[in-house]
Amino acid sequence: MSEKRPSDREQLDRRVLELSTLYEVSKILGSSLELEQNLTGILRVLNSFMGMRKGTILLYDSLREELAIRVAVGMTPEEISRGKYQKGEGILGKVMLHGVPMVIPDIGAEPQFLDRTQSRGDVRSQAVGFIAVPIKAGGETIGVLSVDRLFDQRVSFEEDVRVLTIVASLIGQTVNLQQTILREHEGLLERARTLQQELRTRYRPESIVGQSKQMREIYEAIQQVSRSRATVLLRGESGTGKELIARAIHYNSPRSDGPFIKINCAALPHTLLESELFGHEKGAFTGASATKKGRFELADGGSLFLDEIGDLPMDIQIKFLRVLQERAFERLGGTRTIDVDVRIIAATHQDLESAIAQGKFRQDLYYRLNVVPIPLPPLRERRDDIPILTEHFLAKYNWENNRKVRITGRALQRMVSHDWPGNVRELENTIERMVIMSRRRLIMPEDLLLPTDLEGKHAVVESGAAAGGGTRTMVRPGTFTLPSLREVERQQVLQALAQTDGIQVRAAALLEITPRQLAYRLRRHQIVRSFGSARSGPSQ
Ligand SMILES: Nc1ncnc2c1ncn2[C@@H]1O[C@H](COP(=O)(O)OP(=O)(O)OP(=O)(O)O)[C@@H](O)[C@H]1O
Ligand SMILES: [Mg+2]
Repeated sequence: MSEKRPSDREQLDRRVLELSTLYEVSKILGSSLELEQNLTGILRVLNSFMGMRKGTILLYDSLREELAIRVAVGMTPEEISRGKYQKGEGILGKVMLHGVPMVIPDIGAEPQFLDRTQSRGDVRSQAVGFIAVPIKAGGETIGVLSVDRLFDQRVSFEEDVRVLTIVASLIGQTVNLQQTILREHEGLLERARTLQQELRTRYRPESIVGQSKQMREIYEAIQQVSRSRATVLLRGESGTGKELIARAIHYNSPRSDGPFIKINCAALPHTLLESELFGHEKGAFTGASATKKGRFELADGGSLFLDEIGDLPMDIQIKFLRVLQERAFERLGGTRTIDVDVRIIAATHQDLESAIAQGKFRQDLYYRLNVVPIPLPPLRERRDDIPILTEHFLAKYNWENNRKVRITGRALQRMVSHDWPGNVRELENTIERMVIMSRRRLIMPEDLLLPTDLEGKHAVVESGAAAGGGTRTMVRPGTFTLPSLREVERQQVLQALAQTDGIQVRAAALLEITPRQLAYRLRRHQIVRSFGSARSGPSQ
């Protein structure tokens, strides 16, 4: 090879070209976060400014443990897919392994050159040089930048290596940044997935407690209605779990990724309720300073839970009927018809049939709503569920309050025979209060803080008698007699034990009887065992 030194003029031109190349490269990297697109742009600049051909950018995939071509110019997709190298394999693998540039002045004469992509035809027919520089990020080699260059005496390979090393370091920083952003993005997605999962498990039927026949029928109904978009009407007294079931239906349905939107028709004044449901355009009424979406719109693709539907004013009932029929409405003050895909779940504790008779509820709306009615029975009609619900709430509030409160069999019996006018909510509140307030670990019947059933039952008997035959179903027949003397004695003994933390000598003193007399009464009322275990820990 004959030496031909470049002239000063040629050297100056070369410097200008290098600077322009670097300027273009940094401009591309600053323009977007689209990695592939940026890298392709860089290879194009290297090609058009510096005459470098067949540029490839390879990144190391640490999961697959291989160096693979991410972008390449002048190669077909098949050629690109062949470009995979182990660390240390061939020239590219060596650059990756050692983190230093390598130059092959004539690839046709180089046995180490793998030409795995076979994209060059017969490499031996022309003198082609090959340069590969490591791409580094944070001191670590993460890939390789390589180019081919036709043999040209006027430019030394060292100059090319210098420019390519700068370009590779810019690429390294970008890839690093890109990966950080990706990781953060992945983290956020993961978090969103866990939250969604949490919501699902919270409202999946398994978290609804109850094994009674009535509850099993409800689980069945949830399964069936969840699959369709049919309107559901949940009916039941306060605290029977209407909202819980509504959520379970939503989170078990194909719309579970969509929103679950709730509105309580009884909680809002008329005008507000209307604009909450349907939304309003800017200026629709005084105070409507901006356009606002209503709950129907917000629930698009998901479910809308209309609680206390019996309290919906008549004129809103008409509008609502249209939404049920056409799935379309207009915002207040608006003319554009808005279409929505919403599953309606309504709930009420009211007697809708008599509301219809009184002209307070539209019959046509009732029929539209009552497509799938799910009645939720009051707790007193499924007493078998009380023990398991009690267990459930004890575990919940013990965990929340870091306590280990347990309940005696007798206290549980008392819970089972209580009538729970406030249903599951009342039961839940009672247990929460008990767990927080109780100074002892074992709850006795008198710790329950229930309104005494005796008083309640007397009241019922009297009012029932006054009304000429009680219509209330909450009292089971035959239970509203005066407490027996035996029961009165039992209660007093328990009371005394409770007040003296179960210390029998002191309880006897309080009752003004001897310890022996107390021991006799403990046996007689079979309190001995429960109190014995109470003293020795929560084993009951
Ligand atoms: N079967 C059940 N298993 C577990 N928890 C329940 C069950 N039923 C109700 N609960 C709980 O009882 C409380 C009251 O339930 P919810 O709010 O769903 O009742 P509701 O029928 O909507 O009452 P209201 O008519 O007063 O609004 C909630 O804390 C709920 O989690
Ligand atoms: Mg409710």
